[in-house]
Amino acid sequence: MRDTPLPYGKQWIDEDDIAAVAGVLRSDFVTCGPKITELERVLCDYTGAAHAVALNSGTAALHAAVRAAGIGAGDEVITTPLTFMASANCALYEGAVPVFADIDEETYNIDPARIEEKITPRTRAVVAVDYAGEVVDADAIRALCDAHRLVFIEDAAHAIGSKHRGRMTGSYADLTCFSFHPVKTVTAGEGGALLCDDGERAYRAELFRSHGMEHDASRMTQMTAEQAKEEPWYYEQQMLGYNYRMPDINAALLISQMQKIDRFIARRKEIAAKYDAAFSGMRGILLQKRAPWSDAARHLYVIRLDTQALSCTRGEFYHALRDMRIYSQIHYVPVYYFPEYQRRGYGRGLCPVAERVYDSILSIPLFPKMEDRDADDVIEAVETLCRKYRR
Ligand SMILES: Cc1ncc(COP(=O)(O)O)c(C=O)c1O
Repeated sequence: MRDTPLPYGKQWIDEDDIAAVAGVLRSDFVTCGPKITELERVLCDYTGAAHAVALNSGTAALHAAVRAAGIGAGDEVITTPLTFMASANCALYEGAVPVFADIDEETYNIDPARIEEKITPRTRAVVAVDYAGEVVDADAIRALCDAHRLVFIEDAAHAIGSKHRGRMTGSYADLTCFSFHPVKTVTAGEGGALLCDDGERAYRAELFRSHGMEHDASRMTQMTAEQAKEEPWYYEQQMLGYNYRMPDINAALLISQMQKIDRFIARRKEIAAKYDAAFSGMRGILLQKRAPWSDAARHLYVIRLDTQALSCTRGEFYHALRDMRIYSQIHYVPVYYFPEYQRRGYGRGLCPVAERVYDSILSIPLFPKMEDRDADDVIEAVETLCRKYRR
């Protein structure tokens, strides 16, 4: 039995991260200032995207993506049910309708064949989530989006540093969203970013993150350059926006974390490889299939219980692991199970594969600061429970 509980995910903050934040606290800017510009350049350099817009959460990035894509009332946006609710909520924020397409039973990612079935004349976009960091079938999704004039939004909240056929997430979808919540690969405390190649969309996202306010006189519609010189305090609200600004404090933390991202991902891959070796072939455990196009940064390590081989429920397995101080998590309750969605008329049974997968999965601990002996404890605990519950 472990002395201390092992969480499923955790940030790794060092003294250099703390020093970076302290540096901002001693400077003139604590909110959106020079660190944001620096961070956006770091994200572009890392991913190969032409533009990056830093925001104060991944949720804000998704909202900005939907707005930048020009999606509005009555439009339909197709997404997966096996995700954090933000992937669907972003459509609701703009009055659009989330439409759930079922997942592939092996990769747990949205199935392009199911997307195609859900396309109607009102469909405007696909929000495809790189579940656990495994990259979606971007070629098939791109082909569907091109054929039906849809915007391809990649929710890569789990997948900064993942690659699709050698290309970094952030560099191939129309709009890509990252999250920098503490359990993610790198953290800003809270934070997100929107990446794209389209300068106009990036500009709209920048306005959107700060109330739609335009300070640049050359872009104002109600003021000439001459008038702007007379009234330098003037700014124009050009659209309805929000306060989705990331403070420089958070940006400094993230810039510091980005210097370590390759090391973090390499360590995640090492632990995941250890798990792969232990669990592949273990009766009672099924593993998420790794698609040939996906080089995942391994955000989550998901095991699926083979209910033919084991006599326990997922809930019993979860609690038994917890009794051994191994804290797993379930990613995710299908979004449309929630009261908010049930009230909107989404019924259970909508995506049977996602529902089946949800009933039998657990995310076991995976974070770069884990020691090898922590991973050994997880393997031993899973093995013990499989022996206990094997039919
Ligand atoms: C798939 C997915 N999309 C979006 C988000 C939202 O990100 P944030 O928590 O930074 O708002 C998350 C966060 O957990 C997520 O896992």
